[in-house]
Amino acid sequence: MTLAGIEERKGAMTSGEARDVWTAQENAMELLGALTLPGIERSVPYVRLFLRDTFVPGYVAPGDELLADMALVVDELAANGIRHTASGKGGKFTISLWAGRGVLRAEVTDDGANGARPVVRTVPEGESGRGLHIVGALASRWGYRPEGAGTTVWAEFPVRGGRPQG
Ligand SMILES: Nc1ncnc2c1ncn2[C@@H]1O[C@H](COP(=O)(O)OP(=O)(O)OP(=O)(O)O)[C@@H](O)[C@H]1O
Ligand SMILES: [Mg+2]
Repeated sequence: MTLAGIEERKGAMTSGEARDVWTAQENAMELLGALTLPGIERSVPYVRLFLRDTFVPGYVAPGDELLADMALVVDELAANGIRHTASGKGGKFTISLWAGRGVLRAEVTDDGANGARPVVRTVPEGESGRGLHIVGALASRWGYRPEGAGTTVWAEFPVRGGRPQG
């Protein structure tokens, strides 16, 4: 997004969302790539492949446990888009991957759920509602912002350097 685009969006956003965008801007986040997939279960393995092929080896060493953590998180975010939003009812979702100074970021944008947003649930034994707890435990920060009718859920991970070496 251009700076003008950010200014334009900022006017329409609440302060929390504006802070999110400005944090990305200050950190000079670079968009490495984005992939749009149909909102079906069979898309989830492609999300994992895309994550690995984008971050390894330039940003994360092969076999680094950070990669497994990030894969688990994007898995949960994609599953939520498919299960809880119009993405899973004939729609699509998009995963975008970003790198900044000392941080990697994944965003999953869905088709929306009539204004419903992610909520962290208290989880009774054996119940669902674990996904966002996993995200919270593995990411250094996470959050969401409205994206038109849909939602973008994002998660960040600390990484040494955060940019390709050399
Ligand atoms: N992208 C989203 N858009 C709208 N609502 C969402 C979205 N993601 C999650 N939610 C809401 O937040 C709740 C909690 O999500 P979470 O992933 O923690 O649990 P779950 O998906 O219900 O179960 P589990 O992930 O354990 O299979 C969901 O039940 C749903 O109501
Ligand atoms: Mg879930």
